[in-house]
Formats: sequence, structure tokens, C-alpha cells
Amino acid sequence: MLIRRETPADVPAVRAVTGAAFAARAETPVPVEVTLLDELRGHGAWLPALSLVAEGPGGEVVGHVVCTRGRVGRARALGLGPLGVHPDHQRRGVGSALVHAVLGAADALDEPLVALLGDPAYYGRFGFRASTEYGVTPPDPAWGRYFQVRTLSAYDPDDPALRGPFAYPEPFDRV
Ligand SMILES: CC(C)(COP(=O)(O)OP(=O)(O)OC[C@H]1O[C@@H](n2cnc3c(N)ncnc32)[C@H](O)[C@@H]1OP(=O)(O)O)[C@@H](O)C(=O)NCCC(=O)NCCS
Repeated sequence: MLIRRETPADVPAVRAVTGAAFAARAETPVPVEVTLLDELRGHGAWLPALSLVAEGPGGEVVGHVVCTRGRVGRARALGLGPLGVHPDHQRRGVGSALVHAVLGAADALDEPLVALLGDPAYYGRFGFRASTEYGVTPPDPAWGRYFQVRTLSAYDPDDPALRGPFAYPEPFDRV
């Protein structure tokens, strides 16, 4: 397996992998995560350095992760997602490799923190904790402990600007 930055040529394969990953629980013919990716790509929140693909042994795209520009209050932060691995390639470490890689890339860019909505049983292994442990409020209070934050090297626990409400980029509001 190889993790690398997405290129323009990968876009159709990333759409297909995301569609396959989320198909089982989708309520629409095209999973909302695919629409979200399309809308994020055309938005100023898209950060090309933080859109990564996993290549399988034949060079095919088998997984994808992206972080986009979010905010804690007025401070910059990142929102992680969608993260998807093709069902034929799940449970082989692809998702973990993508999460580790995107956290490393975000850290290298001096981003202070990454937030996401997801299962704590999965994301806890990467150092994500309930956002409220860091004074970061979820966009929807009902998300509770499923809204999590992973702090990075540039995070300063004494910086009050990094506490407050988290906001995803605007395309997330439409899904
Ligand atoms: C979640 C997902 C990205 C994980 O990718 P993956 O390549 O299968 O993950 P890995 O192989 O790195 O890790 C697999 C481990 O994670 C666990 N895992 C996967 N999804 C999990 C979840 N929702 N909650 C808890 N554990 C989970 C598996 O049980 C497995 O653990 P084990 O190896 O101890 O049995 C993939 O299953 C996927 O695309 N799912 C559908 C889309 C989705 O839910 N995306 C995440 C939205 S937040």
C-alpha cells in the first residue's frame, strides 16, 4: 500500500471509492459524502496538501481522506472527513494509514488541531478525544462524545483562542 497526495487524475476514483465505502448506510442513490466531497473541492476550504489517497498493489485507489479548513471561534483549525476505504480493502490497515498520514501532514503545516465526527472506538487509537476535553464545542450539541479533537504540535493549551465553537466549512452545513 502507498499513501500519497491526490492528483486531478484521481478524482473519479476517489468519488467511486467514497461512494462504495458509504453505500451500505446511504439513504440516497449517491451517498451524501460523495456530494460533500464534490462541493468541498470547489470551495476555498479545500486544502490540496491534505487530500490523500491510498493505492492498492495494482496502483488503484482503495481509500481516501481529506481535511478541510474549519475554525474554532475565529482561529484556524481542520475538519477531517470524509474518510473512506473501499469495502473490498477494509480491515487491512488502509484507514489507519490514511489517518496517520493526514495527521502528520497537518502537523507539518503547523495546524493546531483536527476535529471530526466519528466513532470514538475507532478514532481514539489516533489520539482523538472528546472535543469538550479541550473546550471545543461541537457544531451540534447532540453529537456529544462523537465529536472529537486531535491536537497537534502547534496546539497551545493556554491559548484561549483555541477554545469555543467549532465550525466546519460551509458545504458541511448542506449535508
Ligand atoms: C472506517 C473505515 C475508514 C476504516 O477503514 P479500514 O481500512 O477498514 O480501517 P483499518 O483496517 O485501519 O482498521 C480496522 C479496525 O478498525 C475497526 N473499525 C472500523 N470501523 C470502526 C468503527 N466505526 N468503530 C470501531 N472500530 C472500527 C475495525 O474493527 C478494525 O479493528 P480490528 O483490526 O481491531 O478488528 C472504513 O471501514 C470505511 O470506509 N467505512 C465506511 C465509511 C466510514 O464509516 N467512514 C468513517 C466515517 S467517520
